Amino acid sequence: MIVRLCGVTKRFGERVAVDELDLEIAPGICFGLLGPNGAGKTTTLRMIYGATEPTGGRVEVFGIDIAANPRAVRARLGVTLQDNVMIDPLDPVENLKVFGRYHLLREPELGRRIEYLVDFLELGSHAGVPVRNLSGGFKRRLAIAMSLMNDPELLILDEPTTGLDPAVRLALWAKIRDLRAAGKTVLLTTHYMDEAQRLCDRVAVMAGGRILADGHPEELIARHLARQAIEVDCNGDGERRIRAVLPPETRHLRAGGRLILYVDDASAVTPQLDGAAVDDGCGRTIRPTNLEDLFLHLTGASLEGGA
Ligand SMILES: Nc1ncnc2c1ncn2[C@@H]1O[C@H](COP(=O)(O)OP(=O)(O)OP(=O)(O)O)[C@@H](O)[C@H]1O
Ligand SMILES: [Mg+2]
Repeated sequence: MIVRLCGVTKRFGERVAVDELDLEIAPGICFGLLGPNGAGKTTTLRMIYGATEPTGGRVEVFGIDIAANPRAVRARLGVTLQDNVMIDPLDPVENLKVFGRYHLLREPELGRRIEYLVDFLELGSHAGVPVRNLSGGFKRRLAIAMSLMNDPELLILDEPTTGLDPAVRLALWAKIRDLRAAGKTVLLTTHYMDEAQRLCDRVAVMAGGRILADGHPEELIARHLARQAIEVDCNGDGERRIRAVLPPETRHLRAGGRLILYVDDASAVTPQLDGAAVDDGCGRTIRPTNLEDLFLHLTGASLEGGA
């Protein structure tokens, strides 16, 4: 295992941010840590790269106990933080140089590495522009380039695409896939469920410092919900009529004025839904169940506890 957490807890005063967490990440995969605001994702990552000490439990990275030998671990991993950390008046190449020297890289290797990263993350067009004048998407690409400076075996990305436009997100997904194809292990957090579903071989859904479910996205959907989602516009009375004609174990979720029903075969329940006479069938949407459904099902679609 590249990462192994055993009974890891992190308390901030009275607040338990991470609660006896067990987690294993195999080499060469892209692993997604998902969860609402305040779930404990960033805190978990910080303990994995040694920026925060656990209150209890054990964190091993590359089979090394990070508490015993943090430098040996840090030399082999790269981190892109939730907020970009770079030197504003300096341009991307200068930032990369500073970071490379931090990793004790010397010329000519430093120059070669920078050239490779400028090319890989397509930073060439603004290589000489001060960072403070760059767009959010460009800064994010630079932040990822900086985290790759030491050619890490494990890349940790905390919300790599938050706030980016769809084209930049697509481009970054391609880079993350390239890295995984090159044998790197990627551990990321995201609030975009489509991103997790497309990129991740495994995901863990976290809330309140605990993992609620962990596995391959499709397998988790099959285990907790069902293959298809039927969305119906209806009020509380309509919902009661629909649920009266469906098997009682049918999973469902209310999202505003919509009721979402999870079934393995939507066509098999169409007669019952028509019979409930809640809608005329035209406004119904049938679609594959996705990771967003799973997330809402597991974490509850509420705003509680997101401090
Ligand atoms: N340095 C700190 N001091 C006190 N409390 C903290 C500290 N860091 C995190 N917390 C608390 O720990 C909990 C988990 O925070 P964390 O940042 O890990 O959540 P997150 O899942 O990354 O959330 P988000 O999706 O908003 O980034 C929150 O309740 C937060 O307020
Ligand atoms: Mg966070």
